[in-house]
Amino acid sequence: MSFDVINPATEELVRSVELATLAETDAAIARAQAALPAWRAVAPGDRARLLRRFAEAIDADREYLAQLEVTNSGHTIGNARWEAGNARDVVQYYAAAPERLFGRQIPVAGGVNVTFSEPLGVVGVIVPWNFPMPIAAWGFAPALAAGNTVLVKPAELTPLTALRLAELARQAGIPEDVFQVLPGKGSVVGQRFVTHPAVRKVVFTGSTTVGKQIMSGCADQVKRVTLELGGKSANLVFADADLEKAAATAPYGVFDNAGQDCCARSRILVQRSVYDRFMELLEPAVKGVKVGDPGSEDSEMGPLISAAHKEKVASYVPEDAPVAFRGTAPDGPGFWFPPTVLTPSSTQDRSVVEEIFGPVVVVLPFEDEADAVRIANDSEYGLSGSIWTRDVARALRVSRGVEAGNLSVNSHSSVRYWTPFGGFKQSGLGRELGPDAVAAFTETKNVFISTEE
Ligand code: TAP
Repeated sequence: MSFDVINPATEELVRSVELATLAETDAAIARAQAALPAWRAVAPGDRARLLRRFAEAIDADREYLAQLEVTNSGHTIGNARWEAGNARDVVQYYAAAPERLFGRQIPVAGGVNVTFSEPLGVVGVIVPWNFPMPIAAWGFAPALAAGNTVLVKPAELTPLTALRLAELARQAGIPEDVFQVLPGKGSVVGQRFVTHPAVRKVVFTGSTTVGKQIMSGCADQVKRVTLELGGKSANLVFADADLEKAAATAPYGVFDNAGQDCCARSRILVQRSVYDRFMELLEPAVKGVKVGDPGSEDSEMGPLISAAHKEKVASYVPEDAPVAFRGTAPDGPGFWFPPTVLTPSSTQDRSVVEEIFGPVVVVLPFEDEADAVRIANDSEYGLSGSIWTRDVARALRVSRGVEAGNLSVNSHSSVRYWTPFGGFKQSGLGRELGPDAVAAFTETKNVFISTEE
């Protein structure tokens, strides 16, 4: 069976990709299992060198990978270059890990006690369509560094860059069965990662609904799991903030990647005393977002990923929706949707509560600091968020009060590969990236050696 990959900006066929069957998935898992003893026995310095070579191969191929992502996913070329560079950086960063996979010597009576960080075995990484390269790398790079063999299942819609990364890994000398990419259906390949006993860990990024199914499926074998799920993050704008900057940047905090970003600041909460002024400033900023051909150097937002997804996003903006203002989007072929600002009257409105995963943002007023934190936390999600204020003490108080894994003050950044990333509440379980990510791909083994005669 094959899947037709469609360019979301033109609706043209890009390529047909063969989907792995259940039998092919089982065979790939068996190969990954067979490759494990040799891979974990590679000397730390040599494993590090192979990963550095892999990073170099990605670096040399960055422009090709970026163009491939523009065609497959409709990402703007600027974003796609960042994504390829991020995959390179993440592999490079974790290339340092094999030589630093320290255990501990713990003082005990009667002997010497040491701990070892052992690889888990075969790791399955299930990737969504919104950031195909970075999200794959956040899983496979630390897993490989720790001595695991890895299977990556890209989203059906966006397999092309993952397949290219597998070729680059082979070019770099990483054995074919150590790192495999298996395009296929979530219900076939992804589900098999959950049920196959040889797969010892599943790293899943995607919707909270599927994440819950993965978690409960993995419970059957007490299988390790990392979950990176949805979000409905708040952008809190206090009256003492640099309002011009807060308004100018707010569209990019939510409409980047056409809002198909789990960290999208899709609830803008503004202190009531400056609400009207903020909206005056926000309108030109939203209308100024350049939506168009993602391959063009000056485009700031491309299309949505598919016709079905466009339909889902549009369902949040019915005829009678409380639209404050909208940006523009091209006519003609492609799954385009204009940046849209809603001002719902209730905090229980569907547009306020649910993750839209498109270029639609709600703006709500708040009274004071306590009210801001209360509204921000009135969500089953807790992934990221932003706080705009000139008061450092307030920035810290609110940062501690908001239940989210990744906050930024006077900016909208969430992801830096040096720092831990992940969600509170139903936004996920575990952390990726940062100095500790490798620990999520190892088991601690404790060994006591008697020194008694
Ligand atoms: P999902 O439908 O959850 O799909 C994610 C991945 O899981 C795809 O590869 C999918 O395969 C696979 N999958 C689907 N059903 C499965 C099953 N029963 N067993 C195993 N695997 C299965 O999400 P999506 O629509 O691709 O992505 C959008 C969602 O992901 C949003 O909610 C977004 O917030 C979330 N997301 C979160 C983050 C982080 S870091 N927290 C990052 C990106 C996205 P198919 O290709 O067959 O669909």
